[in-house]
Amino acid sequence: MRGFKPISISLSPNVEKDDIQVVFDLLKKPFIWKNGETIENLENEFKKYLNIKNVFSFNSGRSAFLAILKSLNLGQGSEVLIQSFTCNAAVNPIIWAGYKPIYVDVDENDFNINVGDLNSKITPKTKAIVVQHTFGIPAKIEEILKICKEKNLILIEDCAHCLGAEYQGKKLGTFGKAAFFSFSRDKVISSIYGGIAVINDEILAENLKKYHESLDFPSNAWIFQQLIHPLVLNYLILPIYGFLSLGKLLLIVFQNLNILSKAVHWKEKIGQMPPYFPKKLPNALAVLALNQFKKLDKFNKHREKIAEIYFQELQGSGFILPEKKSGQIFLRFALKHPNAHKIIKMAWAKNILLGDWYTAPIAPDDTKPEKLCYSKNNCETAEKLSKITFNLPTHINISEETTKSIIQFIKKYD
Ligand SMILES: Cc1ncc(COP(=O)(O)O)c(C=O)c1O
Repeated sequence: MRGFKPISISLSPNVEKDDIQVVFDLLKKPFIWKNGETIENLENEFKKYLNIKNVFSFNSGRSAFLAILKSLNLGQGSEVLIQSFTCNAAVNPIIWAGYKPIYVDVDENDFNINVGDLNSKITPKTKAIVVQHTFGIPAKIEEILKICKEKNLILIEDCAHCLGAEYQGKKLGTFGKAAFFSFSRDKVISSIYGGIAVINDEILAENLKKYHESLDFPSNAWIFQQLIHPLVLNYLILPIYGFLSLGKLLLIVFQNLNILSKAVHWKEKIGQMPPYFPKKLPNALAVLALNQFKKLDKFNKHREKIAEIYFQELQGSGFILPEKKSGQIFLRFALKHPNAHKIIKMAWAKNILLGDWYTAPIAPDDTKPEKLCYSKNNCETAEKLSKITFNLPTHINISEETTKSIIQFIKKYD
């Protein structure tokens, strides 16, 4: 029985009973919230998993990306190429580091950077290319690496969506000079906030180590805010989410009172940096992230199983399904349909919270594009995709039965 609990793609989707127990244990031990041995344990697990020597943890993917960019010392005003059809969180660190984001259009079929447009945007000021593997679908790494080599550009992989995915049998995040992963609330694994930088270059690793050492941990109040997030959501907000929208209202009130954190601060919508970045990953969130990391294979196998049901049941419908690419993981199952926005709205009214990544070329849609150096109609395909894309959940708390009820719901709009 679902009761008033929503079927949701977001709102702490990866949390299971053992994660809740981990949070209760941590709440009893505030003396290990900031510094502790799990930070190194988590970094070591990543080193083993990716077979990479240099790994540094941060309190978000944003902090990790900023640390990479600053440690590269590209020079003020350098241009960094990045795809549109992304989140402001993926772009802002470029601005915060003193560089200029230049937007590249995407491919309609895989939501990833378009190689032709990428070539056309390179100027003498271009120093780096950020490659996002959207929804866990690997980008065209081979072609991009060739361009980087020819034009002497640095490749940074944005692996916020793709932990565990591979390209030609090699883990994403190991192709560029640097990569970063995210453990934020709706990602492959989550500790509400958290991220990691992965470095494939000795000089850069040396610089980044110094930068990392210069940072503080976030405050205990901030850590507490993240720790209670899964508890408040699971025990208070989600059970009454659909009852006269009470849970939804409570979430907004708690976020506005700063009892719970928001995924994106208002300042980020105008290109500014919130005060809690950049910081090191605190031990308490490393404990949560490590607990989730141990379940990564289970999570991604589950995602694949749910995706297979969507493929089977939606084949031949009016929805355009994602391409099947080897090595991909299905962080979300992204569909295309001319009425995508209407479907999202109708589903939300029925307490089915489908995904809206992304309803603007630089999401969320109340981001001020001009503050993030994006001008309207800069990237035609990204503009188009933002009107016709919506996503279905694949996370561990979505059962086969729930999957079928989602399919049944959206088919009404086929
Ligand atoms: C594509 C992409 N890149 C980077 C980020 C930043 O990650 P984080 O939320 O951990 O700062 C996000 C998520 O917000 C994202 O979706």
